[in-house]
Amino acid sequence: MSGFDFARIPQDVPKVNTKYRKIVTKLPVPESLKVFEDLDKYESRSMHGQMPIVWDRAENFQVFDRYGNAWIDFTSTIFVTNSGHANPLVVSALREAVEKKLYHTYTYANESRAKFLKKLIEMTPDFCEKAFLMSSGTEASECAVKLMRMHGQRVSPKKTAVISFTGSMHGRTMGAELLRGDPKFSAWINHTDPNMHQLPFPYEWTSTGKGHDWAAQFHKDMENLAKKGLDFNNICGFMIESYQGWGAIFYPKEYVQALAKFAKEHNAVLTFDEIQAGFGRTGKLFCYMHYDVEPDLICTGKGMSGSLPLSAVIGRKEILDLPDIGSMSSTHSGNPLCCAAGLANIMAIEKENLVAESERKGKILHERLNKIKEKYGHRISYIFGKGLVAALLFKDPATGKPEGLFPSLVSERCMQKGLLVVHTGRESIKLGPPLTISDDALIEGIRVLEESIGEIESEQKKK
Ligand SMILES: Cc1ncc(COP(=O)(O)O)c(C=O)c1O
Repeated sequence: MSGFDFARIPQDVPKVNTKYRKIVTKLPVPESLKVFEDLDKYESRSMHGQMPIVWDRAENFQVFDRYGNAWIDFTSTIFVTNSGHANPLVVSALREAVEKKLYHTYTYANESRAKFLKKLIEMTPDFCEKAFLMSSGTEASECAVKLMRMHGQRVSPKKTAVISFTGSMHGRTMGAELLRGDPKFSAWINHTDPNMHQLPFPYEWTSTGKGHDWAAQFHKDMENLAKKGLDFNNICGFMIESYQGWGAIFYPKEYVQALAKFAKEHNAVLTFDEIQAGFGRTGKLFCYMHYDVEPDLICTGKGMSGSLPLSAVIGRKEILDLPDIGSMSSTHSGNPLCCAAGLANIMAIEKENLVAESERKGKILHERLNKIKEKYGHRISYIFGKGLVAALLFKDPATGKPEGLFPSLVSERCMQKGLLVVHTGRESIKLGPPLTISDDALIEGIRVLEESIGEIESEQKKK
């Protein structure tokens, strides 16, 4: 998120009063400005640039400030609160855990961790035999790289090449940034990793048309890496963001199937980064399931606990047990409070049938978004996503090229009307409501998005 300054001067905006949305003040709220001033003064600016509202409370699919405003949330913060903000099961589990007074145990055993891991392994597919818990997604990515390389080094010291995709996002720490292979994000590292290679992402617009052979495309792209010096026998793993984050862009199924077959043939670990895509977001428990392949490892985070910092690498026992006792740990691994939240979150996903609900509501979402695209085809080039994740990709109507200002203005307008969307700072707007959202709130939110597109469109025409 960058490149757009949301107005910090309070503006008069039309009042809104519906069942789910309330806008009753100027925005930003004049009394809230002090919070932004303090954050500007005391916090790294790297955290800033978000829409200027101060969250005070969030419940289910709504976000509230202290001043009487309420928004329908199409962000789940950032694909975290899949089971709804403050899901009642999570609240009571946390209340119980807080009362119990066990907030940290480091790597000493605690019951909360054991219960959560048992449930996690039971509810995930068969290849998920063990897990390693951490706090953030980027740690999970780093851990997956470590495990893939340790797997390779059992075979040969040279088997350390990790293959990932251009345009992907795996986190902000050094290994995760090197995986992207994009100097825009990794120039600060001052070196590249000669054993990290990127395939070009198989975007739909790179296809030669209907009938494009995506499996052949995969092999051709691999041959191009070989021409640059990659020895296929030295590949220890593939790291795949299950869909490309910024645009909710899925891979062609045949492409992933060819990749999975190739990984198996070359004894390379297949890892899917499910940090954003997992836990029901795409209408399946994990997004890789859309491709009908089976990974060796998955990285999870965000929606795994529904709120508290909790991430994991989950997968085959043989790989998870590669590091020696004590050589893969983290101070906050399996924190009792996070695990209590994680267990309750999984219970909520199961009890409320949220994976199937995501698929069902996703149909409502995508059908309506495609209608908006028909109406604004000169502005919207693609609608991507599945289940309750979607992205609208915008273009400049004159040139047909990707356009970032229009979606930023639309995101701001949505916020002024009581709807929060994911502002990406580039040519997309992303949508990811909690999977618990009611049908009428979902439909109301989509209508607000459409109105906002229409308003910004006519204001731009007048200029
Ligand atoms: C696909 C993916 N991987 C990794 C990460 C990094 O997760 P975290 O911010 O928890 O480190 C993100 C975060 O946006 C993500 O979307």
